[in-house]
Amino acid sequence: MKQLIFATILLLGLQSCKKNNTTDTEPAPEPQPLFSIPSNFPKPIYPIDSNPVTQAGFDLGKNLFYDGILSRDSTIACGECHRQTYAFSHHMHDLSHGIEGRIGLRNAQPLQNLAWRERFQWDGKAATLDTQPILPIEHPDEMDDKLDNVVAKLSKHQGYKNMFKAAFGTEQINAERMLKALSQFMLSLVSANAKYDKYQRKEAGVNLTADELEGMSLFESKGCKSCHAGQLFSDESFRSLGLSRFERTKVDYLDGKPVLSIVVDEGRYRVTGIDTDRFRFKVPSLRNVAASPPYMHDGRFAKLQEVLDFYDAGMQEVPNLDPIFRKNARLGIPMSAEEKRKIIAFLNTLTDETFLKDKRFAEPDGFPVR
Ligand code: HEC
Ligand code: HEC
Repeated sequence: MKQLIFATILLLGLQSCKKNNTTDTEPAPEPQPLFSIPSNFPKPIYPIDSNPVTQAGFDLGKNLFYDGILSRDSTIACGECHRQTYAFSHHMHDLSHGIEGRIGLRNAQPLQNLAWRERFQWDGKAATLDTQPILPIEHPDEMDDKLDNVVAKLSKHQGYKNMFKAAFGTEQINAERMLKALSQFMLSLVSANAKYDKYQRKEAGVNLTADELEGMSLFESKGCKSCHAGQLFSDESFRSLGLSRFERTKVDYLDGKPVLSIVVDEGRYRVTGIDTDRFRFKVPSLRNVAASPPYMHDGRFAKLQEVLDFYDAGMQEVPNLDPIFRKNARLGIPMSAEEKRKIIAFLNTLTDETFLKDKRFAEPDGFPVR
């Protein structure tokens, strides 16, 4: 927090210096801090004081994020599966596609407001944001490299040495610094300028339509809000939703030879081994949800309409089904077509075009810098 206040003072200071040098016709640009807490958001979970977001750290993190060098054959960057236009999720890919076209187990999650997220990935396998990138880097279906090897590869490039020096004071490249820089870039991905936010902050001239307002109150009265809670639209818990259990044929490669196996994704249970965690998955945030299809941990639904039809009438009896879905005559949350239409109108107010088009986060020109 202290750093944040300091950074703001610094920025304001720079701003006023600039003003003196520019003519009256040229309005000084608005200072945009790389990380700040939107006024309608709670306190972040990430210990931001331990890794404050600086311009040099952000630049390095962004370069790493868009550089395929983090994968074994240098073809797959983080940004390959996490695309800005789709809130940094993977559009048109239900299951993730990694190195050599290998198909993973799950749908790539959007990357936004990660400072407010507790545990990462659909099953919470990564306890912190700083350690999360080790999983895709080392996953055989994603980037298939080793952390130490990635560090060794980066160390061969003077461009990276310069960027590490600018961000951390010396040219030394190590895993801790690399992960901190990736976090700095990801922490800056704050989405809080949707129509919904402006309405929450009572910004002048921003009103929700009658349908959007009714959708918002249905979202509450139907119980969606009990899980998709608060300003971040997730209570960060793991829940079982009664999705039918898809058995999938998975291809793995042993010494280059394909080996087939049948997998059933049991969600949180894969991490904890606790019976009551079977089929529980992390409650996703619904921010930018209209921009990030397909939906659910396995990307089985292409449209929001299909998701709502599922909540209405598609649920199945599965272990640990959340009790909220047993409160009615049939499993799920019964909704009329009209109610679903209004809820979707409300969900559309969560799209933040400023974030999806923010040039600061886009793949840099003249890329990659090494
Ligand atoms: C091959 C596609 C692919 C690549 C490459 C990839 N990711 Fe992901 N990412 C995914 C998938 C799929 C998930 C969900 C994984 C799961 O739940 O098992 C995910 C989840 C995440 C999450 C968790 C988000 C949350 O809300 O919990 C973060 C953070 C993330 N990725 C960052 C990165 C970073 C940083 C890199 C580069 C080092 C990267 N990803 C590379 C596909 C990819
Ligand atoms: C018991 C908690 C709970 C309730 C109640 C609930 N959800 Fe969800 N929602 C989840 C979880 C968990 C997922 C992810 C499930 C998965 O992938 O296996 C999810 C997924 C979604 C998705 C897909 C998001 C994405 O990025 O894939 C949408 C949209 C959604 N819910 C909307 C709603 C709406 C609208 C309601 C009310 C009609 C609602 N939810 C009620 C827990 C809940």
